[in-house]
Amino acid sequence: MIVCICNNVSERKIRQAVDGGMTSMPQLRDCLSVGTCCGKCHPHAKQVLRECVADIKQKTCAQEQPLVFHCNALAA
Ligand code: FES
Repeated sequence: MIVCICNNVSERKIRQAVDGGMTSMPQLRDCLSVGTCCGKCHPHAKQVLRECVADIKQKTCAQEQPLVFHCNALAA
């Protein structure tokens, strides 16, 4: 779905940018020019950005190893 009509920026492009490490609207603006013309897309672009960042954080957390406490190590 196109988010920014003026600059032909899709949700997919925003997701790819987030996958590449972008986490803020200024970064998206600089990279994709999203919101730099009429600005009407800004709220939607921000929403998509937040969703993509949340998805990445969730994936990252799911991949982390659980903390395991060893009682023997504390007793030593
Ligand atoms: S729709 Fe994005 S700047 Fe106009």
